[in-house]
Amino acid sequence: MTVSAESVPAGHLGRPFIWVGELGSTNDLARLLAGAGCPEGAVVVADRQTRGRGRQGRAWASPAGGLWCSILLYPSVDSPRGLLSMAVAVAVAQTVEQFVPGPAGIRWPNDIVIAGRKVAGILLEAAGAAVVAGIGINVGIELQAMPPEVAAIAGSLHLIAGHPIERRAVLDALLARLADCYSAWAAGGDAVSDAWGSRDLLRGKPIAVLQSGQGIEGVAEGIDREGALRIRTASGAVRPMVAGDVIQVLGPEDPSG
Ligand code: BTN
Repeated sequence: MTVSAESVPAGHLGRPFIWVGELGSTNDLARLLAGAGCPEGAVVVADRQTRGRGRQGRAWASPAGGLWCSILLYPSVDSPRGLLSMAVAVAVAQTVEQFVPGPAGIRWPNDIVIAGRKVAGILLEAAGAAVVAGIGINVGIELQAMPPEVAAIAGSLHLIAGHPIERRAVLDALLARLADCYSAWAAGGDAVSDAWGSRDLLRGKPIAVLQSGQGIEGVAEGIDREGALRIRTASGAVRPMVAGDVIQVLGPEDPSG
């Protein structure tokens, strides 16, 4: 295991700092650190993950070339937890835009998408009083290293930029952006929901969502104060989607997203 403390950005995120060649999942090691009393700000990075996890119990392909990391947070304020995941998504979107021509959009709940291709994903997991923010960014992934169904929808920053990008530089930018967005979330979250809304790829689109086994169709109307997706159904009622998954965008997607 390589443990490195060099080039740690200012602020409390990034201490302690662990960068490992291969792990099952960085979220698992971060959870262990939380159980061992590790403080807020601990960061775990792996070059490759053998059991990377995505949302909805899906596997997350994690070959070499990506930035696979987990950050330990102890959110102690009253601001809605659902919105915390939105704050992380805004931080990741702002980060990738530092390295490629944007814009980086967010597809609910927190897929980061550039030019119609997903370049990053976020998985927040509770670990006692801690929240593990697991972030995967396709920095320098060759798409043929991905399963075909992933390669069909994924993008990688180096392909968009047209040149190699240092994962370490992306990580440093991410920790700086995350520190800002975490503070904005702790301050009440208005700035977070505004920033998220300005990147919302689904707003105004007809969509179908699966929630608790029930399919719901309607028009996406942005997120609420809890970070839930608001859907206006044909009856005119607005329903918040707190769990579930967008299963289909029924209209044409914005090609810039
Ligand atoms: C998604 O389904 O979009 C979320 C993907 C989250 C992947 C990251 S990679 C680092 C961290 N460790 C994991 O096992 N998953 C997250």
